[in-house]
Amino acid sequence: MKLKIAVLPGDGIGPEIVAQALNVAKAICKKFKHELVYQEAPVGATAIDAAGNPYPDETHALCMGSDAVLFGAIGSPKYDNNPAAKVRPEQGLLAMRKQLGLYANIRPVTTFPSLIHKSPLRTDLVEGADFMCIRELTGGIYFGRPQGRSEDGETAYDTCVYTAAEIERIIRLAYGYALKRRKKLTVVDKANVLATSRLWRQVAQRLEKEYPEVETEYMFVDNAAMQIIQLPKRFDVMVTENMFGDILTDEASVITGSLGMLPSASIGVHTSVFEPIHGSYPQAAGKDIANPLAAILSVALMFEYAFDLQAEADAVRKAVDASLDEKIVTEDIAAGGKAYKTSEVGKWITDYLC
Ligand SMILES: NC(=O)c1ccc[n+]([C@@H]2O[C@H](COP(=O)([O-])OP(=O)(O)OC[C@H]3O[C@@H](n4cnc5c(N)ncnc54)[C@H](O)[C@@H]3O)[C@@H](O)[C@H]2O)c1
Repeated sequence: MKLKIAVLPGDGIGPEIVAQALNVAKAICKKFKHELVYQEAPVGATAIDAAGNPYPDETHALCMGSDAVLFGAIGSPKYDNNPAAKVRPEQGLLAMRKQLGLYANIRPVTTFPSLIHKSPLRTDLVEGADFMCIRELTGGIYFGRPQGRSEDGETAYDTCVYTAAEIERIIRLAYGYALKRRKKLTVVDKANVLATSRLWRQVAQRLEKEYPEVETEYMFVDNAAMQIIQLPKRFDVMVTENMFGDILTDEASVITGSLGMLPSASIGVHTSVFEPIHGSYPQAAGKDIANPLAAILSVALMFEYAFDLQAEADAVRKAVDASLDEKIVTEDIAAGGKAYKTSEVGKWITDYLC
């Protein structure tokens, strides 16, 4: 199979971790006899410095012409410390989301046996937890209008808007993943209070009939926030709207222990993007100390969701598990043991695959 990917390393540790992820993708393609065609392009602060635009047209054209995008992270203290800057790295991320039509963010929440002690939760609660959070990305209160302040400045308002079509698109996506997994879907809303949530529930209840193999449950968001902590093992696929998802996915991500371990996929109308959930960790940039596993596991998601290549995805995860078992890990998870460099961890995993 010919796999054409756009590689957007971005800022801070982005180039270091993406280099390792790309090496893993190359090793997998060699092993499974795929042809990997890739091209790099700037995004974020790097792109502002190079072209005055955090998501240049050339970068967008490359993404549109590719089957998948492997993304690092954006963000730089140069802009974080200058709130007055008109052109900002984050605008690159927003522009990319909008122009590629990224409507669903997927975060798998899985635990790694050798890291279970890093979880803030008790081992017996998290051991074996394996679920997927799907967050709607384009609608809801972050984008609804009107938004603003009254003339006297004493009142502020936001508007939450969803269309049935937006809801149907993401619920169907969630059912698709539930069918491939343990066939349970949790639809999270606040239907007892919000009109948009009532529409979510109405649409989901209509679609539920088309997926009789899947057990569908409905849960209020406040209850979901508790259950993620109390009983994370009860979930398989969870789907929710933009703001609830923003909060719940961050809550869910910490139960596994380390930010440097978690990949994500943003599913697009045009091209989908695969990226670590962490940021550009500027303090570590250029030091070869950042954990490359979230980026490497994003490659596994890319094989799985962009190319439907399950064996390739499993091979990446197996190699990552082996590196953890052998304690070939970076300082953030070394727990007093030997800390390996970003490049050493990447090389160990690539060698394991060869
Ligand atoms: N998707 C993105 O590109 C994205 C997401 C979040 C933040 N950001 C940007 O990143 C910059 C830094 O933001 P921040 O400090 O809030 O978040 P961050 O995720 O970059 O770092 C927070 C902390 O998490 C840990 N961490 C993160 N990634 C790690 C890795 N690979 N290995 C080991 N430890 C890791 C470090 O302890 C770090 O101090 C900002 O400019 C922010 O806007 C970008």
